[in-house]
Amino acid sequence: MTTILPTERPTLAETARQLTGGGRGILAADESIRTMSARLAAEGIEASETTRRDYRELLLTPKGLAESVSGIILCDETFGQRLADGRPFPAASRELGVLPGIKVDTGTSPLPGGDGALITEGLDGLGGRLASYAERGAAFAKWRAVFDVRTITTYSARANGHALARYAALCQRHGLVPVVEPEVLADGGHDLESSAYATRLALGWVFEELDQAGVDLAGIVLKPNFVTPGLRAAPAAAAEVAAATFEVLCDTVPAGVPGIAFLSGGHPTADVCAYLTDLSRAVTSRGRPWQVTFSFGRALVSGPLRTWAGEPSNTAAAQERLVANCAKAARATR
Ligand code: 13P
Repeated sequence: MTTILPTERPTLAETARQLTGGGRGILAADESIRTMSARLAAEGIEASETTRRDYRELLLTPKGLAESVSGIILCDETFGQRLADGRPFPAASRELGVLPGIKVDTGTSPLPGGDGALITEGLDGLGGRLASYAERGAAFAKWRAVFDVRTITTYSARANGHALARYAALCQRHGLVPVVEPEVLADGGHDLESSAYATRLALGWVFEELDQAGVDLAGIVLKPNFVTPGLRAAPAAAAEVAAATFEVLCDTVPAGVPGIAFLSGGHPTADVCAYLTDLSRAVTSRGRPWQVTFSFGRALVSGPLRTWAGEPSNTAAAQERLVANCAKAARATR
């Protein structure tokens, strides 16, 4: 393996642009052990360290993946595992042309005084963990704050924005690009306006707190939700989602942010690709400076997981399906 000397290391700004530009996006494969195990079980696959590893190897190794995928987000378990050929996941990922990232928050708990809102945990000891991930090859990290339109308040937006800012500042100190993810959940029957209100509140406080923490915006990636009605409400047209999302972004996201990579939030693959197509057009035609792309999880991997079903004989078909989903999402950014 070639050693990267400190002076040869790309800057945070270069990595942030690489992750979100060139018509490529990020594959989110960082489900916690518990979530991943539940998703495997739901497909009739016995959940174990081995099956979780096999599945993540399937996701990382399809031929041609790097044509549409710039980075992959892993969880701690996968980050420490090896491919069948013995290569550690982060090293193999770099060799395949896909930057390895690591999810570093430790999940949510009720926010004290937050009337049902959640706060994301994981700041204790974070510096030491970031140093270790950086040394083992991580290029970027991810921290997800979670909001529900029914419980978001200024207090919960500010508290989570503050945690995101402390995480982001610490990442940059350790040479990792922070993916800053304030997610307004799409679960529920709410309307588009409620999603717009909550997303605006969340993003507003995130950027206020990033500013206070002295985070270099050129070296972050923003990972927001699309502004949509809830998954149990009547869906909105892609043009409507893109227009609402664009308006909120214009009001809250500074021009210094190089790239915005959207989560899929449980929406179908075709829908999020349509949102991204329309939004990319708006950003380009209206002269906004950001690169917009995807950092989808379920919209890319749910189909392939079903196709795989834990059977080695299905691996090639599952990988083909994954590459097709990633290519479709990548086309939506171009
Ligand atoms: P989804 O695209 O499935 O919403 O997941 C993306 C993600 O990384 C959530 O943290």
